[in-house]
Amino acid sequence: MSKKELQVAIDGPASAGKSTVAKKIARRFAYIYCDTGAMYRTVTLKAMQTGVALDDAQALAKMLAKTDITFKPGDPEQLVFLDGQEVTMAIRQPDVTNNVSTVAAQGTVRADLTERQRVIADAGGIVMDGRDIGTSVLPHAEVKIFLVASVEERAQRRFKDNAEKGIHTPIDVLRDEIETRDHKDSTRAISPLTQAADAVRLDTTSLSIDEVVDKISVIIEQKRQEF
Ligand code: DC
Repeated sequence: MSKKELQVAIDGPASAGKSTVAKKIARRFAYIYCDTGAMYRTVTLKAMQTGVALDDAQALAKMLAKTDITFKPGDPEQLVFLDGQEVTMAIRQPDVTNNVSTVAAQGTVRADLTERQRVIADAGGIVMDGRDIGTSVLPHAEVKIFLVASVEERAQRRFKDNAEKGIHTPIDVLRDEIETRDHKDSTRAISPLTQAADAVRLDTTSLSIDEVVDKISVIIEQKRQEF
């Protein structure tokens, strides 16, 4: 299929604001939003529920062959379904968060989800957030953004997000978890978290969500005129 609209890739470490920003950008341009982290989380949840070892690449591949992951628009959250069951909240629980990096490091899982993500993005008009969108999933995306923020700021943001969801994890624990996940995501052998050479880096530490959205919107508008 030929692209009718842009592909927008938003990558960066945990809690850098990717999903909040990506959702707003998608709404502003009437693009589809795809949260690829939710896909890795959903695979992790299913493996935990069915007793598949989180580092067994072959068993995970077998499981994925019989796994359906879908999104449906919801307000304010996009709803996530695993084999027809809604798992939007379940995939945000701390046990999934702390295990997802192990599952995301398995090559079989990455190959399978990358393929699914490319199908979703094929026609363009998409904002996709993750760790490897600009480098691996959509290397030809017209807009690539790499969002970063200090560890302290990201721990504070996650603390607030969690509190809204009724999850009460101390800030020190969150800081450690973020650092551990950053390390695992950036040092894994396959598609590690790295900035694409042609991505625009934005440090969101002292920017509001709307300021970040406005900066990215300017970049998208420019690219749209050239498209
Ligand atoms: O964005 P998030 O915290 O929901 O992502 C959950 C995990 O999934 C993250 O620790 C790394 C992994 N992930 C990945 O490896 N590649 C992606 N494109 C998206 C997420």
